[in-house]
Amino acid sequence: MEKLIDKLSLVVAEAFCAAGYPTDHAKVGVSNRPDLCEFQCNGAMPTAKAARKAPILIANEVAAKLQEQDIFTTVEAVNPGFINLRVSPAYLAAHIDEMSRTERLGVTGEVKHRSVVVDYGGPNVAKPLHIGHLRSAIIGESVKRIYRYFGDTVVGDIHMGDWGLQMGLIIAELKVRQPELPYFDDSFTGEYPTEAPFTISELEEIYPFASQKSKVDADFAKEAHEATYLLQTRKPGYYALWKHIMAVSVADLKRNYNNLNVDFDVWMGEADAEPYIPPMLEKLDAQGILTDSDGAKVIIVAEEGDKKEIPPCILVKSDGATLYATTDLATIVQRMEDFKPDKLFYLTDKRQNLHFEQVFRAARKSGIVPDSVELEHVGFGTMNGKDGKPFKTRDGGVMRLETLIADITNYVEQKIIENQIVDPAEAHNTAKIIAVGALKYGDLSNLATKDYIFDMERFAAFEGNTGPYLLYTIVRIKSILSRCGLPEDLHIAEADSEVAKNLQLVLSQMPEQLALAYRDSAPNVICAYAYELAGAVNKFYHDTRILTEPDAQKQRSYIALIALAKRALEECIDLLGFEAPEKM
Ligand code: ARG
Repeated sequence: MEKLIDKLSLVVAEAFCAAGYPTDHAKVGVSNRPDLCEFQCNGAMPTAKAARKAPILIANEVAAKLQEQDIFTTVEAVNPGFINLRVSPAYLAAHIDEMSRTERLGVTGEVKHRSVVVDYGGPNVAKPLHIGHLRSAIIGESVKRIYRYFGDTVVGDIHMGDWGLQMGLIIAELKVRQPELPYFDDSFTGEYPTEAPFTISELEEIYPFASQKSKVDADFAKEAHEATYLLQTRKPGYYALWKHIMAVSVADLKRNYNNLNVDFDVWMGEADAEPYIPPMLEKLDAQGILTDSDGAKVIIVAEEGDKKEIPPCILVKSDGATLYATTDLATIVQRMEDFKPDKLFYLTDKRQNLHFEQVFRAARKSGIVPDSVELEHVGFGTMNGKDGKPFKTRDGGVMRLETLIADITNYVEQKIIENQIVDPAEAHNTAKIIAVGALKYGDLSNLATKDYIFDMERFAAFEGNTGPYLLYTIVRIKSILSRCGLPEDLHIAEADSEVAKNLQLVLSQMPEQLALAYRDSAPNVICAYAYELAGAVNKFYHDTRILTEPDAQKQRSYIALIALAKRALEECIDLLGFEAPEKM
């Protein structure tokens, strides 16, 4: 179905035409002065130049044509040449009614169904998930859902850091602690045990311990590097241990991401890129784009017109080791083969902006990625504490994601218990649902590239621009619907008040707002829209007798309207990656 502003633009274009003007600028937008009008067309100004006429004269002529239409209740031409419009309640209601009858509230997908890989999450295996990985998971999950909603085929890939020094550190430390294990016996020829020789909590203790030790014990550090190297040559015992580390960690990661409503289609990582590296390097060498630089192999990626220096992309160090860029480039080779993508989208901390600039340029220069395939990296800002510095635990340590979620869940649970609306047995589950909404909305409502301040009290507030406020609005509608039931024949009638009309107008904007979020990969657009919608719902609810309305037909129409608003809000929060409880 067509968007309301597109329908109105068409009508206005016809009026420009009827008045004898070209229609190039006859576009209608939502008014940014709701006190003056609902929609406006600013096309008379640019039309005036070619017509050699004052814009207000053109606006007057077009307005006269528009007045003949019963679509509008008011049409005004105002200086210097704006055309201000208000739509008729009947026209608007018919549009909203039609919208309510479509499966996706009038949102049509894109014509081009892209194949997209979204690379997000990016945890480093065997290290506890900490809040540095929170934003990537939250934003990536939402972007993935938005793309899918518009018809793209999306592969969400977690791209674990699973092949680096942390693995060597763990293996070296295990060798110290349990030298008798068969993984360290070079003469061992049997089957390695299927059971891992450690639990996740042991693993989580071993890694920081070994990491610390490597800083003070040079011999141990050497051992760890050696173990990393041997693992990367797939030495059988080490590779078997690596598989155990992976299995134990991945199970734990799945549990953690699950708590956040984050779900990956593909659990690949740096290790999966490794087989692609040697053939890729060979090919790059044959192409003649690998340059020798002090014994290292690099691709020069600086371009004419660069405003800042873009250093070469180093693929092999002088000691033969490969780097983060090598893995990322090889992963692109793998993704191009496996998914034939139209777009690769990455989400990491903005400190990796240069890394991706280099890798993308190398991918283009080498032809690994043709021009027809889009490469996009969004470098997000930092989640800061109230002191404006990166968020830390009270004693200054790195906050574990689990702790953060537990803290906010407890905080919400206290509130719920005080409110005494939710059955105490349900309080914890409800709190979990709300906490995820609070955390995600607190993050997503900011422009991804900006830093933001994590403020638990503010994020978890039931009022204001917060996740819980949206949830509260949905729960409120659910409660009304459960009291009066959803009538069979839902028909949205003409608005009989300002608040009803405003709610209908806001609802009519959903398709274009979601399309903007899709175009810009910007969940914050959906947050802003959902917040406005929730505001319109609450104003309507406040000023309208719904449950006590004596006119049954009127009451049914009110119910139809809030039921539609509920669907719209639920759609929005689903795209943001959270859900509403039954009560709160
Ligand atoms: N593991 C990396 C980190 O913790 C993030 C990986 C992001 N994805 C990628 N393809 N480089 O910084």
